[in-house]
Amino acid sequence: MGAKKKLQRFADVSSMPHVIEPTYDQAMGGDFPLKGNWNKDFFKNDDPIVIELGCGKGEYAVQLGKKYPDKNFIGVDIKGARIWYGASEVRETGMKNVGFIRSRIEYIANFFGKDEVDEIWLTFSDPQPKKARKRLSSRRFIEEYLKFLKPGGIVHLKTDSDLLFESTLEEIEEHSYTCITKTWDLYGELFDSLDSETQEILNIKTYYEELFSSKGYSIKYCKFKIN
Ligand SMILES: C[S@@+](CC[C@H](N)C(=O)[O-])C[C@H]1O[C@@H](n2cnc3c(N)ncnc32)[C@H](O)[C@@H]1O
Repeated sequence: MGAKKKLQRFADVSSMPHVIEPTYDQAMGGDFPLKGNWNKDFFKNDDPIVIELGCGKGEYAVQLGKKYPDKNFIGVDIKGARIWYGASEVRETGMKNVGFIRSRIEYIANFFGKDEVDEIWLTFSDPQPKKARKRLSSRRFIEEYLKFLKPGGIVHLKTDSDLLFESTLEEIEEHSYTCITKTWDLYGELFDSLDSETQEILNIKTYYEELFSSKGYSIKYCKFKIN
């Protein structure tokens, strides 16, 4: 994408009321008015909140938003030009249950209050081969999620990466999270045995999923409870 187009998309994203761009101070823990108030002030309902971290174009946030009008979804990513795709679709369709935060996930606990979030999706997160601490399923991040995830809250991880999947399974084991589902080959091994609703959810394909599937990578998936 050309620099000009990227700049136009940054500007467009910044003008969208359903894309929140926290200030530096807010990201650092300064007053962020939506913290603890997403239901009341942003969605204007009491429905559960599900977040997609490293959402890129936000395929999970948007598709789940369409499927579940009685739940709220928030995609989080640092890259405005990627968020633009999902955010534009939300604008065009007039959906009221999907929003985005453009910020670094390192600051995520400054944007949500205690018990404010019901579920987290990690979709094709960067595997961070050299820096285990930067993986979104590392203990360092899980400790941040625990600050705002409801007790018994669920984390879903979908990935093409053996490394990220293996390290996530190790984290689950080491910290005694409750593993609900795991598969090294979602479509080859598990998919056919799932009920149609779960199939529809797990069959949502993100940009990175399409990319890596076309290169022959198997898609791994796990769902676990952090305690
Ligand atoms: C491999 S892409 C996956 C995007 C999308 N979920 C998909 O499946 O197509 C990883 C995404 O995570 C975002 N990301 C990585 N680390 C991040 C961080 N620390 N804070 C915010 N976004 C991050 C990147 O900007 C990128 O869009």
